[in-house]
Amino acid sequence: MWLLALVVTAALSLVSSIRTPPNVIVVGGSSGMGKAAALATIEHGGKCMLVSRSKDKLSTAKSYLLSEVPSAIVDTAVVDATNEEEVQEFAESLELGAWDGLVISAAGRAPHGPFTELPTSDARGMMESKFWTAYHCAKYISVKLNDGGCVVFVAGILNRRPGINCAPLAISNGALEGLTKSLALEFGPRLRCNCLSPGFCDTERFDHMTPDRKAKMIANTALSLPLQKIGEPRDMGGALYYLLTAQFCTGVILDVDGGHGIRQYASVAGDPMRAKEQTRQ
Ligand SMILES: NC(=O)c1ccc[n+]([C@@H]2O[C@H](COP(=O)([O-])OP(=O)(O)OC[C@H]3O[C@@H](n4cnc5c(N)ncnc54)[C@H](OP(=O)(O)O)[C@@H]3O)[C@@H](O)[C@H]2O)c1
Repeated sequence: MWLLALVVTAALSLVSSIRTPPNVIVVGGSSGMGKAAALATIEHGGKCMLVSRSKDKLSTAKSYLLSEVPSAIVDTAVVDATNEEEVQEFAESLELGAWDGLVISAAGRAPHGPFTELPTSDARGMMESKFWTAYHCAKYISVKLNDGGCVVFVAGILNRRPGINCAPLAISNGALEGLTKSLALEFGPRLRCNCLSPGFCDTERFDHMTPDRKAKMIANTALSLPLQKIGEPRDMGGALYYLLTAQFCTGVILDVDGGHGIRQYASVAGDPMRAKEQTRQ
């Protein structure tokens, strides 16, 4: 009897535990949060595969990662994840048994503008580059992950705490949160599925801005947050690694946003509820 119990426990632990350190495929790994997730992976001793569209960006990211952890194994693959066939072909090329985790942080430039004036094609483009990329990757790559593995999406604060002129990002983030919970149900107990919802983070995403404009945007956002600072890629890399390896977390949307979700917009000076004599009452 005890032997049967031992066998059942061993079988269950095979299904529910990710191999640690996990080997992780990062779609969007050539930059920003994806690169930070890859760094967290190799710092823990796992190997990683960086996936994105640009060979040059992949090669620069790989050199950076190897400069941080010279003994690491870092593979790269050029794939445009908006293209379903390309993702399918890439997934078919993956060796079975080699990979435990999949992070998808890919997204193109986000369109901003008044909802009634913004071309609908811009909103569709955002969904293509942020939602359908993740959908394709989860669909074809998840089946190649080892038992106990995990798929992690990256959505963003603008779904549940929207900003004016940011509808395309809000809808793609919302769709990803919905997909996370659906897949947590469908993939369990073999795999887990989680989602990071970052707040503002200083990544290469904003490199197209002039330094002055970028500095102003960062300072303004930081001032509005309880922690009075914006995120760094390492904050997100650590959170993504946590979601990949947290054995009892599935269907989780993790807010890592410096308190953006509870920030206050009213100016202190004009808010009677914030005067000292009022708060004492
Ligand atoms: N940074 C923030 O403040 C912030 C806040 C909230 C949410 N987010 C979200 O967090 C995620 C990561 O943001 P980030 O700041 O790390 O962005 P990032 O630095 O711009 O990185 C995006 C990555 O996606 C890749 N990529 C873009 N389109 C792709 C495609 N079609 N196929 C494959 N790879 C593709 C890019 O590489 P290639 O150009 O080589 O393809 C790059 O590696 C995004 O979904 C973003 O919306 C960001």
